[in-house]
Formats: sequence, structure tokens, C-alpha cells
Amino acid sequence: MDTRKTIYMDHAATAATDPEVVEAMLPYFAEKFTNPATLYTPGRGNDEVIEAARETIAKVIKADPGEIYFTSGGTESDNWAVKGVALASEKKGRHIITSAIEHHAVLEPCEFLKKRGWDITVLGVSDTGLVDPADVEKAIRNDTVLVSVMHANNEIGTIEPIADIAKITRAKGVIFHCDAVQTIGKIPVDIKALGVDMASASAHKFYGPKGVGFAYIRKGTRVETFNHGGGQEAGRRAGTHNVPGIVGMAKAIELADARLGDGARLTSLAEMLWKGLVNSIPDMLRNSPQGNSLPGFLNIVVEGVEGEAMLLRLDGKGVCVSSGSACTTGSLEPSHVLLAIGLPAEVAHGSVRFTLGRENTEEDVKHVIKEFPKIVAVLRQMSPTYKPDCRKGGLPYAI
Ligand SMILES: Cc1ncc(COP(=O)(O)O)c(C=O)c1O
Repeated sequence: MDTRKTIYMDHAATAATDPEVVEAMLPYFAEKFTNPATLYTPGRGNDEVIEAARETIAKVIKADPGEIYFTSGGTESDNWAVKGVALASEKKGRHIITSAIEHHAVLEPCEFLKKRGWDITVLGVSDTGLVDPADVEKAIRNDTVLVSVMHANNEIGTIEPIADIAKITRAKGVIFHCDAVQTIGKIPVDIKALGVDMASASAHKFYGPKGVGFAYIRKGTRVETFNHGGGQEAGRRAGTHNVPGIVGMAKAIELADARLGDGARLTSLAEMLWKGLVNSIPDMLRNSPQGNSLPGFLNIVVEGVEGEAMLLRLDGKGVCVSSGSACTTGSLEPSHVLLAIGLPAEVAHGSVRFTLGRENTEEDVKHVIKEFPKIVAVLRQMSPTYKPDCRKGGLPYAI
């Protein structure tokens, strides 16, 4: 995609790899191609490169290097946490607690375990997408082996009270996994201060390469080996290392950490976008909570219009957005996250997610503020369900 001709506002789905990251990766494809496990001279440096990357990542999230395990991304790290803890703790119990707004990379492994006899408690959330730590406490039983709650939601951007939940799980001796795919590299993450036992991260969300990520596993946490094979990653996740990817991820997290201050700019751009749209589009709701969302996040629902239709028309104006989670594109089901915050299915269908990033400017936001209301007006004229004349203002459902 030629990003110069488009306004890309889908950074929660993925971000362009930073040119400095690409540059750092390039030597490891051909020139320094050798397997880090080899003993001959040309291969020898690559194991040190892997360990240096581990140290860089550990430093940024304030972990110990031995607690960072390289994986193929967020999905693998999430699967490892859920299935790995379940298998390691079978003798203690077969109960797992998670939330209704988790990514499918957590919900699907839970579903997989449920079919095999595990008991899964799925906690509801508030209308802003918050998990209540008191609900976690109430749900914990003697046979609970894992709590998995995400750090921030990928569809609406809500940031969860992870440290408060961790205090509860720690006191009860239950392992706590946190999907931090949307936060690591975007907001400050001090993993020890959060108090979680496991966390998932993915490089492509913070301007690194796709197909590489890491799992944080606190020392002493009982989790089964994910990939059986060679002895890589302390024998816990076998497979030849993705050296270019790991080098790129370490460079990307370093750069992202240095640019965390940009978050305030992205938050104000998202506010500018919201104000611009809400002033000109009636019957529209904001799903991303003001003051507790990831920087640059704005998820809205526009009554009487399909999200996909808005997405395609915005695309026609050079603007890339998402109408839900990119990972579920192609599905006609309404977003499970929007249903969980209480939106009726027909309303949830009208959602658009703008996620702004590094390259977005005020000019980009102004372009959307100019074009989007026109798109909505046209689509509403064609809409069989939108009847503003019969309405007295406000939306006909409780939010
Ligand atoms: C919260 C969350 N978890 C997990 C994933 C999956 O990560 P990956 O694309 O690296 O497999 C995503 C990707 O969108 C995500 O947003």
C-alpha cells in the first residue's frame, strides 16, 4: 500500500514497519543468515544478537531478560498462556476466568479447553468495557488456575485495571495472564508494577515486523512448554529463531519507548476527530471511553448505517479504518465487544474504529471531519432503518 496517498487510521490492526527497523533487520536475511544455534564462526554472533534483543525488550518493560520468550506474535503468546497454564495446572483444577471482551486469541483457546472439560467463567464488563476487579475476586474458586484479562481492548481502546486485578490473583495464588498486545509500545508498561504473571506482546502493533512477538513469563510461573522440538527459548518454545524479526522487534520497541510522549498528541487528535464528527452527525455514539482509552482510539456507532458501508466509502476518500476487529473481517457477526458493552446487535453493526498513529496529522483529521458526515448522510438516505423524522432525539435504547 502506498501510504503517501492514503490516510491510514487503522493502527490497532497493524502499523507500517518503521524504516529504521527495516534497516536493522536487513543484514539478518542474507549477510548474517546463519542459525543462532550453530557453532561455526559465521553463526556465532547471532546468538548474542538474540540475547541483546531479549535484554532490550526486558529493559523497556522492566522485566528480567530470562522472563522474555520469543514467539510468532500475540496469537501464539495468548494461546501459550491459556493452554500452557491449563495443562501445567490440571491437577490443581480446571477452572479459568476471562472477560467477554478478550481478543479471539484468548477466547478461542478457552473455548477449545471448554470442549475438553475445563470450566470457563466469562466475566461481563461495564458499558465502557471495564472489568470490575470485584467480579474477578468473586469468580475465583479453589480450582481456578488462570485469570486472563487484557490490558487494553483492541476494538474500543478501554484500559483495564490490571494492577488491581493482579493484587487479587496474587493474594489468591492464581496465575494472571494479561494480553498486552495493544499496550506494549503504545503506553508505558512496567510489568512488575502491573503485577501480572504472564503477558503477550506483538511487534507489528508498535511499528515492528509482523509474525514476531514475545511472551513475558514471570520467573517461577508454572506453564507447559508450547512448542516441543529443539531446545530454543530455554526448551520452552522450540523452533529456529526468527532472527530478523527478533532484531526488528527489539529496535521497534526501543523506538516506540522513546516516542511514548506522542501518545498525548494522538489522544488530542482523537478528541478533535470526535468533536468534529459529533457536531455534524446526529444519532452517533462514542464507544471509546473519554479519559480511559488508548491514545488515538475512537470507536463510534452511527445509527442506521452499516459499518462496512462506511468503511468502503471512507476508503473511496483515501481513508483506511476498521469496522470492528480486523481479525474478524469477513464475518457478518456483530462485534462481541460491542455486544458486551450493551449495544443491541443492530446498533453494533454500525460501528467504525479510527485508530490514529505516528504519521497522522491535524490535516488528516480535518479531512475525515469534512468527508465522513457527507458519507453518513448519503448512506442514511439509502437506509431502510434510519428514520430521523419519527425520533425525538436520543437513541431508542439504553446504553
Ligand atoms: C488484543 C490483541 N490480542 C492479540 C492479537 C493477535 O496478535 P497477532 O496479530 O500478533 O497474532 C491482537 C491483534 O489484533 C490484539 O489486538
